[in-house]
Amino acid sequence: MRLVLLGPPGAGKGTQAKMLEERYHLSHISTGDIFRANIKNQTELGKKVESYLSSGQLVPDELTIAMLWDRLDREGDKGFLLDGFPRTLEQADALKAGLAKRACPLDAVISIEVEEKVLVKRLAGRRTCPQCGASFHITDQPPQKEGICDVCGTSLIQRTDDTEETVQNRIAVYRKQTEPLVAYYDKEGILVHINGDQPVESVFHAIEEALTV
Ligand code: AP5
Ligand code: MG
Repeated sequence: MRLVLLGPPGAGKGTQAKMLEERYHLSHISTGDIFRANIKNQTELGKKVESYLSSGQLVPDELTIAMLWDRLDREGDKGFLLDGFPRTLEQADALKAGLAKRACPLDAVISIEVEEKVLVKRLAGRRTCPQCGASFHITDQPPQKEGICDVCGTSLIQRTDDTEETVQNRIAVYRKQTEPLVAYYDKEGILVHINGDQPVESVFHAIEEALTV
């Protein structure tokens, strides 16, 4: 299966991606996670993209698209789940053309929808695992042991772009540059709308149900 998870910051893309990866045995490719790993390791790419992530701006398309294909061509054979890509019309066109060339079009684009005030609360309380990328929330989805990842046992951190000001900026960037992709994929006939403002398990079941139709 070849899927895209679309949704504003804090919609639950990463949370659902972990569950879908396990359920359908897909490669979970998160462009945000790849950028953060490069920043942590101070690679050339990491140095180039650090200021974009910390301010909540998008990394330029050219860099992002090249990185996506590098990863997809290495890991995409068994099926994939793109989390946070595409985010611009240019990225969506590049994905469409590249997949057509490889004769493996997308099966579905899952749009996780959540209203703005809920997003801000979620991101302010989010704690993430710098090792495996799992997401938790201090009150709504706490890890079993405070500050420790349930999946791999690493100490959890707060992302540097989860400050209120940067969150507002990320939401504004989403509205302007990424939200038009909802109409883009609707027109392609592969868009699935999912209400993301319900418990994590219910969101997951709604996605499963939509994928089996
Ligand atoms: P990225 O890492 O993709 O961040 P994002 O899109 O801002 O989304 P988040 O990861 O913040 O949210 P999420 O939807 O994954 O939610 P989560 O599951 O964690 O991108 C970061 C940056 O990288 C960008 O700003 C940009 O600079 C750059 N970048 C990345 N891709 C790019 C691209 N393609 N082009 C250019 N630049 C790019 O959940 C959030 C919180 O809510 C957690 O605490 C979680 O526990 C909780 N939660 C989840 N689901 C529920 C639920 N159902 N109920 C209650 N709480 C929930
Ligand atoms: Mg995420």
